[in-house]
Amino acid sequence: MSKGNEVTKTLLVATLLCIVCSVLVSITVVSLRPTQNKNADLDFKKNILMSAGLLEEGQDIEEAFSKVTPVLVDMETGKIVENESLLKGYNQTKASTNPALNTKIKPENDIAGLSMRAKLAKVYLTKNSAGKIETMIFNVRGKGLWSTMYGFIAVDSDTNTIKGFGYYSHGETPGLGGEVDNPSWKEQWIGKKIFDADWDVQFAVAKAEASSEYQVDGLSGATITCNGVTSSMKYWFGPNAYGKFLENVRSGEI
Ligand SMILES: Cc1cc2nc3c(=O)[nH]c(=O)nc-3n(C[C@H](O)[C@H](O)[C@H](O)COP(=O)(O)O)c2cc1C
Repeated sequence: MSKGNEVTKTLLVATLLCIVCSVLVSITVVSLRPTQNKNADLDFKKNILMSAGLLEEGQDIEEAFSKVTPVLVDMETGKIVENESLLKGYNQTKASTNPALNTKIKPENDIAGLSMRAKLAKVYLTKNSAGKIETMIFNVRGKGLWSTMYGFIAVDSDTNTIKGFGYYSHGETPGLGGEVDNPSWKEQWIGKKIFDADWDVQFAVAKAEASSEYQVDGLSGATITCNGVTSSMKYWFGPNAYGKFLENVRSGEI
């Protein structure tokens, strides 16, 4: 066989191999996508449940989540928006970057440095057998030192007492800002109050040890992360985010 023929054959085999491999990879990616989406959805639900202490050891996530009612809330009015088709696939974090669904936060109100937020919040409610709200679980996001930290905060129907908290995504340094994930620190949040008697947000991460019912201990070597946590709490529970909804719950309108 001539040298030219050999090169042509080698190139042909290599090309065919590439095509076969890329087809196999594409088939694998496409066929795994539904499983990946299902797992991501389960993980999201797990984070919501865990932030509120609603998931018992070994409990089925879907079963536990069936007791949670998601609702859409217009943050301008604080009222629930009835729109089942939008609610179904709505992701508040994604909506915050979608120009059709977000709104610019005025610089004077942007205490958490977020620039944009979704117009509609997705709030997760649990209710008692009489249909009265027991727990409200809110999406929060805020800037740490290195990253935007995404989490959920569970609040009692008194609209003030924290029932649980947890970040599900952040890029802070393990052992420093990453201590926001420390279970014993998160435990401290339970029972703490967000608002003072005038319904102004008082909750804060203390500089060192907590000294009031509105504080949790500071994390050493992580003041910047902690300040980000405080600012995001002030923003999300203030009048420009969940404040109006909480006011409506308090007044019995919701
Ligand atoms: C490699 C490295 C990683 C750090 N990661 C964090 C962090 O995740 N969060 C944070 O607030 N500070 C972090 N810091 C420390 C900050 O630069 C700053 O010193 C600290 O927030 C001050 O906190 P302190 O007043 O409690 O010491 C890091 C510092 C270094 C050198």
